[in-house]
Amino acid sequence: MLLSVLAAIVGTAIVLLMDWFPVDAARRVGQIDTLYDVLLIFSVPIFVLVMSVAIYSVIKFRARPGDLGDGAPIHGNTRLEIFWVTIPFLVVSGLAVYGWIVLDNIEAKQPDQMVVKVTGQQFTWSFEYPKERVKSSQLVLPKDKPVEFRLNTKDVIHSFWVPEFRLKSDVVPGMTTKVRLTPNRVGRWNVVCAELCGLGHATMRQVVQVMEPSAFRSWVKRHASGGQQAAGGSNGPTADGKPVFAANGCGSCHTFKPAGSTATVGPDLDQLKSVAAKRRPGKSARAYVRESITDPRAFTVKGFPKNVMPTTFKKDIAPEQLDALVQYLLGGGKSK
Ligand code: CUA
Repeated sequence: MLLSVLAAIVGTAIVLLMDWFPVDAARRVGQIDTLYDVLLIFSVPIFVLVMSVAIYSVIKFRARPGDLGDGAPIHGNTRLEIFWVTIPFLVVSGLAVYGWIVLDNIEAKQPDQMVVKVTGQQFTWSFEYPKERVKSSQLVLPKDKPVEFRLNTKDVIHSFWVPEFRLKSDVVPGMTTKVRLTPNRVGRWNVVCAELCGLGHATMRQVVQVMEPSAFRSWVKRHASGGQQAAGGSNGPTADGKPVFAANGCGSCHTFKPAGSTATVGPDLDQLKSVAAKRRPGKSARAYVRESITDPRAFTVKGFPKNVMPTTFKKDIAPEQLDALVQYLLGGGKSK
């Protein structure tokens, strides 16, 4: 018992000395870090104590060669059982209430909040600012402005997480989940997906850029009209394929030099022109590329797993944008 207690003290000291957290970039993040430390203080000593007693017992009381008899019969100990049920019950309940209070406090609705709609899909994030009329593949936020993220997914479950903001939420098909926070540090962090969502899960990360409010306002001004265009309208001017490629996250799975992407989940699109004809004899390259986007299950390039490419593009990409995208891909990055 003495050794176990010593081990528990040493173990707790070690985990408290470890640096668990990245830089904090949102208001009241300190409360979450404190909560995490309190969880460690309660859980690590109990874990080390139980494990050291268990390991000691396994070694000390193990069956030895020729030792065939049963152990001594033990019929329980009521006092001990009440003790080891009640204490953990109180500890776990107390921590649950504490965690609930902290989260409720941090996620309280703010009157002047800005809304950002976040859409997850295999394997990218896209962002929409309804009031500012901006659609973007990059998350940009003003410093010190409360934000409410409304999270949706086009396909499977993803999880929206910026470690520097600490808060994280699953993004679930058929419902809108929310995360509220206030960024308070200018800088660039990663938005990552924290839920295994398919082959490209590890590539599902984008940048969140927190900037001064004035810089954010000019970013909105620069992107407000571009956002409208990217939203697509079949009557608009001839669309450019590059924003379509970016907005639909093609670069998170495919290598395509003109777009600066180097991912290898799907086929290399720099080779597209030369292989298109070979893959499907009798079909034009244009028809092949179009089919591969709108009906990716129809044909899978050899050496790549089936059923990875999302089937949502057929309804998400307007006809005009699809033409522009096909042109962009076959033209090696040129729109005309
Ligand atoms: Cu989306 Cu992992």
